[in-house]
Amino acid sequence: MNEIKIFSPATVANVSCGFDVLGFCLDSVGDHMVIRKTDKKGIHITKIEGFDLPYETELNVAGVSALAMYNAIDVDFGFEIEIYKNIKPGSGIGSSAASAVGSVFGMNELLGRPFNKTQLTEFAIKGEALASKCEHADNLAPALFGGFTLVKSVSPLQILEIPSPDDLYATIIHPQIEIKTSESRAMLPKEVALQDAIAQWANLGSLIHALHTSDYELIKNSLHDVIVEPYRSQLIPHYDDVKTSTINAGALGCGISGSGPSIFTLSKGLETANKVKEAMQSVYSKSGIAFDIHVSKINTEGVKII
Ligand code: HSE
Repeated sequence: MNEIKIFSPATVANVSCGFDVLGFCLDSVGDHMVIRKTDKKGIHITKIEGFDLPYETELNVAGVSALAMYNAIDVDFGFEIEIYKNIKPGSGIGSSAASAVGSVFGMNELLGRPFNKTQLTEFAIKGEALASKCEHADNLAPALFGGFTLVKSVSPLQILEIPSPDDLYATIIHPQIEIKTSESRAMLPKEVALQDAIAQWANLGSLIHALHTSDYELIKNSLHDVIVEPYRSQLIPHYDDVKTSTINAGALGCGISGSGPSIFTLSKGLETANKVKEAMQSVYSKSGIAFDIHVSKINTEGVKII
């Protein structure tokens, strides 16, 4: 096999109470990429469609993660990468993670899978860091493993796979404004109050328990963020209205997807997830801001060959 086409999914990081550690994978939106073995050594990006991104390997997220893997192997050939980008950069649903994961997943398949998913995440972290100026894996891990993942630690990298209740659906609105991850990280406080930390880790612990036991009521009671949301929500137009109306429509919870501007909700059942979509539409259609909305089951497979 000399060429492979893959689907690299969008992801939701943080999931309210799990800043920088928790994430889940979507199935209705993602990038396509083609990875090809070539006689010419090195990593070369030969096509980018969808968005205006750099072709220079060292300046492209997919290129940087691919180089990290390439430098760890000894081969007498190279790789070409074509990127068909559907996830808008700066949208908050793991655009850079999808690129970073796609190249290393595709190369690993063409090499006969010498690396496991945790090792692939290690390479992909290098690409993600180019975009967010910080090494974190809460979008990368769900894109590679699928489902919900918890990044127990980055160094050494330890990723836990968390089960997804069967009837859990995400509805995500993406307002067409850009928030740079590096900027929305820079605005966060360096220290937090002990009372807030206690509330946050109690919610994260109970959310993980709720996912293991398919306890939808406990999911609802756990999806709160007292640390990051108060700062970042100010960057997202109509955030409070979306939150109120989606909870009223039956969502279990509503929060900022990654570093924003996308807003995610989780719901029990597709019917409720679609009602939540209508609630989002009714808030944003009056705003004058272009938007799109995705309704998605939790994708338990992650990045895959197509
Ligand atoms: N955990 C990261 C953040 C995700 O919220 O900054 C975005 O890359």
